[in-house]
Amino acid sequence: MYYRVDFKLCMLWILLVLQVLLVIYYLLMAPASYVFEYSTPTPKEHEFSLSSNYKPYSVKFVAPSIAKAVSRRKEWQGYLTEADRVILPNIVLSSYFVKLNNESVCFVPGTDIGYTKKQHADHMDHTKCECKRGWHGKDCGQPEVIWRAFIASRQKISPRRRRKPRRIIHGFPITGLETTLAEIKLHELSHVVDCFVVGESNHTATGHFKPFYFKQKLHKKGFISEDIRHKLLYIPLTNSLRSNNKGLNYSSTYSKSLRQQLWQRGQATLTNLRSDDLYIDSTDAYEITNPKALLFFKLYDGWPLPVAFRLRWSAYGFFWQHPKRTIITPGAYTIGIMEDLFRSNPSRIPGYLIPGVEEPGERSVYELVVGDLNHYGGWYCSWCLEPNDILTMLQWAPHDNSPIDWDRMSGKKIDITYVEDLVGTGLWLDGVTALIRKSQHGDLYFAPDYVANNTWKYDFLYTNFYSKLDYYNN
Ligand SMILES: *[C@@H]1O[C@H](CO)[C@@H](O)[C@H](O)[C@H]1NC(C)=O
Ligand SMILES: *[C@@H]1O[C@H](CO)[C@@H](O)[C@H](O)[C@H]1NC(C)=O
Ligand SMILES: *[C@@H]1O[C@H](CO)[C@@H](O)[C@H](O)[C@H]1NC(C)=O
Ligand SMILES: *[C@@H]1O[C@H](CO)[C@@H](O)[C@H](O)[C@H]1NC(C)=O
Repeated sequence: MYYRVDFKLCMLWILLVLQVLLVIYYLLMAPASYVFEYSTPTPKEHEFSLSSNYKPYSVKFVAPSIAKAVSRRKEWQGYLTEADRVILPNIVLSSYFVKLNNESVCFVPGTDIGYTKKQHADHMDHTKCECKRGWHGKDCGQPEVIWRAFIASRQKISPRRRRKPRRIIHGFPITGLETTLAEIKLHELSHVVDCFVVGESNHTATGHFKPFYFKQKLHKKGFISEDIRHKLLYIPLTNSLRSNNKGLNYSSTYSKSLRQQLWQRGQATLTNLRSDDLYIDSTDAYEITNPKALLFFKLYDGWPLPVAFRLRWSAYGFFWQHPKRTIITPGAYTIGIMEDLFRSNPSRIPGYLIPGVEEPGERSVYELVVGDLNHYGGWYCSWCLEPNDILTMLQWAPHDNSPIDWDRMSGKKIDITYVEDLVGTGLWLDGVTALIRKSQHGDLYFAPDYVANNTWKYDFLYTNFYSKLDYYNN
């Protein structure tokens, strides 16, 4: 009898202790409570030197220790701001190239090093770099998509290795709920980009207020890995545009105005830009440029500028492709070109172009277009959101620039079931255009590497959960 009571008491005590431990653990692990106190930034100037021990080809995922986060809390809120003086790193070229047989300098990711060494040993006069499949050029530094772009440009292009790699600055605005795509983009490009300039707007294209969703997520751990945060310059975009402006031109003005602000404010914060550093200007977070192409631009000279990227056009997830297949987006410019282009005429900055639909002359801004119908200059994952977020974004889009044909839709209800149905059956938002089904099997460009490496995390972009057919097909 006594034993039984004691045993119960013991259990109760153990449970209590466990609960206390759980609460303590939770308090330690939960995102610190400064999330909403953030709005009082210290005006003090900090200097951040972006890490220069550059590690190519390996994206490191550092789990930030709690102690570090706490001790840094006063001066480091988890990303760079305009109050910081940001210093870009100098990158060492040697980590990308290896010298074989005293003579041949080969690009490491593009070269079959074992085979090249063997060839050199077997034939004394042999001095070539043996390229892996999908790589070209004397030192195997040209990825397929660059090699094809040079051929298609019909110009004589002889790229030269730079003595010092360029720094790459990538600016893009976030105007809605596309925080997942932004996360993917940042991770996919983090090993080539030296500084991300991310702007977030507090209003939609129709001028309505929206919260800073991306910033709110930035205050959570596990959203963007720590090494990327140290090169992420966050810029809140709060300038309202004239609200009497409506329609397509309004949207396009809105987008251009955001990108122009991003460039100007980013440029003012980065202290040691060089005129031959590269600025990658993108219209939104749904565009993910091919990182191999960017790495080439980082390491070589002697190719024509400005560059546009022809992206594979997916819809809702990587499992559907838009029937137009590709979309051409801006753009790589040197800092020098950006300064000229924007100072003289900011409206000259191009938006995206749909091949076959663009107005004559628009495309001629670009000297080089990277990507074709088989090898893409990157990915454009349009409306790649959960169905309820698609619904919200549809409500935010200006009516005369909406993918939905509102006249045709009159009477029909646009709700979550309707959107899930479109995703499931592969219909574009106009309710008419059929999308092309894509499968990851044997498709080199199905999705960016970071998504393919983390399918568990981005399963809704990788697998069509609303398709009834997939059960039978797979
Ligand atoms: C490489 O160069 C060194 C010195 O310059 C020379 O001794 C050696 O034989 C060379 N090796 C080959 C494989 O040519
Ligand atoms: C965005 O923020 C600015 C500054 O805080 C504010 O003046 C503006 O009204 C906000 N925009 C909207 C649409 O609420
Ligand atoms: C946009 O502006 C151009 C000229 O500035 C005009 O021709 C065109 O009709 C406008 N489009 C819309 C949808 O207002
Ligand atoms: C994906 O995984 C491969 C193999 O582990 C790795 O080499 C590559 O860097 C990863 N890429 C990204 C973008 O995470």
